[in-house]
Amino acid sequence: MQQKQFQFSDKRVSYYFDADSKQLKQFCDPAHTIFITDEHVHAAHGKKWKGWKTIVLKAGEEYKLQQTVDAVIDTLIEMEADRKTMLVGIGGGVITDLTGYIAAIYMRGIRFGFVPTTLLSMVDASIGGKNGVDVGVYKNLVGTIRQPEFILFDTVLLKTLPDPVFRDGFTEIIKHAAILDAPMFKWLEAQTPKKLRSNKAAMNWLVTRNAVLKSKLVQRDEFEQGDRKLLNFGHTLGHALENQYELSHGEAVAIGMTYAAHFSEKYTKFKQTDRLTALLTQYGLPTYAAFDAQKVFDVLKHDKKRSRTSMQYVLLQKIGKAVIQPIALTELAQMIQAIK
Ligand SMILES: NC(=O)c1ccc[n+]([C@@H]2O[C@H](COP(=O)([O-])OP(=O)(O)OC[C@H]3O[C@@H](n4cnc5c(N)ncnc54)[C@H](O)[C@@H]3O)[C@@H](O)[C@H]2O)c1
Ligand SMILES: [Zn+2]
Repeated sequence: MQQKQFQFSDKRVSYYFDADSKQLKQFCDPAHTIFITDEHVHAAHGKKWKGWKTIVLKAGEEYKLQQTVDAVIDTLIEMEADRKTMLVGIGGGVITDLTGYIAAIYMRGIRFGFVPTTLLSMVDASIGGKNGVDVGVYKNLVGTIRQPEFILFDTVLLKTLPDPVFRDGFTEIIKHAAILDAPMFKWLEAQTPKKLRSNKAAMNWLVTRNAVLKSKLVQRDEFEQGDRKLLNFGHTLGHALENQYELSHGEAVAIGMTYAAHFSEKYTKFKQTDRLTALLTQYGLPTYAAFDAQKVFDVLKHDKKRSRTSMQYVLLQKIGKAVIQPIALTELAQMIQAIK
C-alpha cells in the first residue's frame, strides 16, 4: 500500500493506492461506520466486508436521485447514525456521488470515505469532492463540494467489472491525457484495454497517475473558478446526450470529446482529431453518433457553463493542452448539426 496526502482548502485527504479493501479497519471504527454500496458490488464483493453495517442500494444512474437520498436518510435515522458516524461509499460513481452528498447534508455534515469499485470512479468520480444527484434529464444539478477523509484504491475489485463498464473508465483516462498529459496519451496508444486488464502493476500505475492528475488540478482550483473547468472536456455535449439516449456516461463523453475536437479545429486550429478518435476506438469507445441535434441542443443550452448567448467550451490546442473559449450558442447549434 502506498499512501499520499492531498491538502484541499479545508481538509487533508488520505489516498491509499495499491491497497486492499480489507484494510478498511485501519481507517474506520466498525462501531461508528456505515457502508453504502449497491446490489452488484455487494453480490460481487460483500463477503470481504462481512460484519460491517451496510446499506445496499439498487444499482444504476436512474437511482442517483433525491428520492434515494431521502430513503437513505430514513435508514440512517433508523440505524441511529449520529455526528460521529462515518459513511463509506463502496461502489462506482453513482454510489460515491450519493454517499458524499448524503454525508454533506445529514446532520449538516458527517465524515465520509470512498472505496471506488469501477475504473471510472477510481480515476475520476471519487476525486475532487463534487457530489450530487440528477434532477430529471439534468445531470448533477443538485449537489455539494466537500472532500472525503480518505479514498482507498483496490484495483483487484475491478476484476468483476463487466467489460463495457471497465471500458467506460477509459473515457476519463483518455480525457485526462488529452487535456493534460501528452506522455500518458502516447503510453495509452501503445496498450490495449485487454492487455491492461490482466496487468495489475500497469492498472495500479494508471489509476495512481490519473487520480494524482485530477487531484492536483482540483487542488489548484477546488471551487471551479478556472483550471478545474478543463475537466469538463467532452462533458457539455456528453451530459446532454447521456440522459436522452441509452448511452453510458463514458460513451456519451467519448462522443462529446470527438465533437469538441472538431469544434477545436475551427477555434484553436487543433489538428489531431484523428489521433483522438483512433485512441477512443482502440479502447472500444464510440466517436460519432446519429442523434436529434435539435433535441440535444435544447438540453445542452441549460448547461451550467452557459451565459445568455454563449457557452464556455473546453477545446484542445494540441494533445495534452486544453483551453476554454466561449462559443456563441447559434454557432454551437450549427456545428452540432453539421458533424456526422
Ligand atoms: N463526482 C464527480 O466528480 C464525478 C466524476 C465523474 C463521474 N461521476 C458520476 O459517476 C457516475 C458513473 O460512475 P460509474 O460508471 O462508476 O457508474 P455506476 O456507479 O453506475 O457503476 C456501473 C455499474 O457497475 C457496477 N459495479 C460497480 N463496481 C463493480 C465491481 N467491482 N464489480 C462488478 N460490478 C460493479 C455497478 O453496480 C453498476 O451497475 C455518473 O453518475 C457520473 O455523473 C461523478
Ligand atoms: Zn465524466
